[in-house]
Amino acid sequence: MNIVLGITGGIAAYKAPDLVRRLREEFVTGTSLQAVSGRPIRSNLWDKEAEAAMSHIELARWADIVLIAPATAEVMARIVSGGAPDLLTTICLATEAPIALAPAMNHVMWSNPATQANRAVLEERGIHILGPGIGSQACGEEGAGRMLEPDAIAATVFSLTGGKGEGLLEGRKVVVTAGPTREAIDPVRYITNRSSGKMGYALASAAAAQGAQVILISGPVNLAEPAGVEVVKVESAEEMFTATHDAVDDADIFVAAAAVADYRPAEVVEQKIKKCEEVMTLQLARCPDILASVAALERAPFTVGFAAETENVIDYARGKLMKKKLDMIVANRVGRDCGFDRDDNAATVLWAGGEQSYPTSSKTDLARQLIELTAKHFYASRGSETQPRLTIIANKD
Ligand code: CTP
Repeated sequence: MNIVLGITGGIAAYKAPDLVRRLREEFVTGTSLQAVSGRPIRSNLWDKEAEAAMSHIELARWADIVLIAPATAEVMARIVSGGAPDLLTTICLATEAPIALAPAMNHVMWSNPATQANRAVLEERGIHILGPGIGSQACGEEGAGRMLEPDAIAATVFSLTGGKGEGLLEGRKVVVTAGPTREAIDPVRYITNRSSGKMGYALASAAAAQGAQVILISGPVNLAEPAGVEVVKVESAEEMFTATHDAVDDADIFVAAAAVADYRPAEVVEQKIKKCEEVMTLQLARCPDILASVAALERAPFTVGFAAETENVIDYARGKLMKKKLDMIVANRVGRDCGFDRDDNAATVLWAGGEQSYPTSSKTDLARQLIELTAKHFYASRGSETQPRLTIIANKD
């Protein structure tokens, strides 16, 4: 595997040797592929000797991925502008390989509207932005702008390139909940909601398409079972809770797309309730929160929640992300004309270090993008602890 590693002038450049070491460990040792370790270091577009050996165009073609770590605000702006004043930005312009940037800068520089606008443009163009992490900074301040740790960057680079032709989630176990739940009032009546299950089913399909072993825990819906997915059918929130905890034990990723009832009738009446009173009161009791209980597990999988809101969508979703201690949350607006029981959807995904919006598209298309984003963040969060397997690299050889 050929990696062009661009190192730009941020303080985090001191981590570059560690990053190189990890990239070599992951990609070269044991594969007899010497490309990374054997490449010369170049810094000048106009170095005649180096250009004669391998021109910047050849270098751009040679790369399987271009990784810039650390990436300064300046290099992000240069790539956005499409200029090519130096070797690195010239390669970015000339390559057809994926490009990944690991930003590192002061937190005020990172949150500056100019940098955020550049980030959004880069992401729209399909450039992968890894991090940044949140924490104490070289300048002594706290905030978002730390370069991700080298092992997390190496793992993400692996997932991005290993994904070519191979599933991104090969060898991973993914558990998805979908659909509404039904909370019995008596033998013939129940409380439920307008969820169709389409989003959860599309997510289960998309994860299976990326090679994952998928268990889909589904409330009552009118949908065909997705191919290559194990479906566990449940009715109530309580049943969904039990089925999820049975499945999630050794899972890598948990996606809670179900619209689980928050309350159920405090007692289920054994016989059909007869109408006698003019006004009837139904006592409700809280259902267990499946998502929060999974996120709180000692060995919790990478946990993704959903927030279907009718107002203050982003604020409420960020609140749920923090309160339930999730890795990511998918926020979307629901109401009469959007969200539930439709074939399309728009969403904004939030995580501790940032967010990404997806305009309205089919639920199938949105699910594919959400699973790709989830895989990317899953590998980044796990770092070296659960490196993707090296066999994928051996396949490339
Ligand atoms: N969820 C869950 N178990 C529950 C309730 C919700 O797993 N008993 C999950 C949903 O699958 C979804 C997320 O939690 O991923 C939604 O969060 P929640 O705070 O429960 O949303 P609402 O039910 O809309 O809550 P609120 O009415 O407070 O907005």
